[in-house]
Amino acid sequence: MKIAKSTEPIGKFASIDVGIIDSGVGGLSVAQELRMLDPNLRLGYIADTALFPYGDKSVETLIPRMRYFVSLFNEIGTRVVVIACNTASSASLRDLRHYFDDSVQIVGMEPPLKPAAQHSINRSVAVIATSGTVTGDLLTELKERFASDIAARLIAAPGLADCVERGQLADDEIDALIGPIVQEVIRHDVDSVALGCSHYSFLMRKISDRFPANIKFFDAARPVAMRAIQLFGEIDRDDKNAPKQPGLVNVFLTGSGSSFEQTLSKLEDAGCVLPEIRIQLDKLKVPNV
Ligand code: DGL
Repeated sequence: MKIAKSTEPIGKFASIDVGIIDSGVGGLSVAQELRMLDPNLRLGYIADTALFPYGDKSVETLIPRMRYFVSLFNEIGTRVVVIACNTASSASLRDLRHYFDDSVQIVGMEPPLKPAAQHSINRSVAVIATSGTVTGDLLTELKERFASDIAARLIAAPGLADCVERGQLADDEIDALIGPIVQEVIRHDVDSVALGCSHYSFLMRKISDRFPANIKFFDAARPVAMRAIQLFGEIDRDDKNAPKQPGLVNVFLTGSGSSFEQTLSKLEDAGCVLPEIRIQLDKLKVPNV
């Protein structure tokens, strides 16, 4: 995979249509959907790899981080920002919408429990997510709203996002993490599984064959991308119809660029489809927020 490099810091970008934030590579699944839906969108992507994983971080840690990253996009005029991370969305969505009011449209990512519940014939569904998402209020609310009358198992999978972040999609460690989940799903006759972590988009395409064949997986990357495009379309901007160059996804990292690149090439070798990206070489510094 050819990865372009840049030295242009985020504050110098004149034009990012949609900003995307995740702890690492997971949100690239949303970036890829955005690129497929509208190749001309100018995309910026912040991966907070220095603090990865978000799955075990507290709400108090994540809220100021998210405020800071959204404000970086806001300062350069980006009006739609996607929190392409279920964990960070669960922790901070309400706060961000209140804090930024109408100046930025925030699109969150939540486990697609609603379509999973609607699809389930056995009336038994599962959500696989990080510990932060499983214990968060957002998922409890989703469960009450969309799955109150069926069995919904919320399965925390600590360590699974870490494997994806290392580009590791198949080996003994993955087997050890996935095995008990498969057993739980079989034991409870689950027939719909909602993927509650953006990192799992890449993984599940590789390992879905370990689950019984009747199970359908639901991934939020496409609907989240569609919502972002809808909101972008509603924004009144002077340059909206100006011709744009089909662009790369501009990636800003808080951690090491070389390990991010290694992960991307491993994911690509494993058959994952990734958007073309340009990495900003200097690390994005996060003040003591
Ligand atoms: N990609 C993030 C999510 O959707 C989580 C990965 C992590 O633990 O940082 O929840």
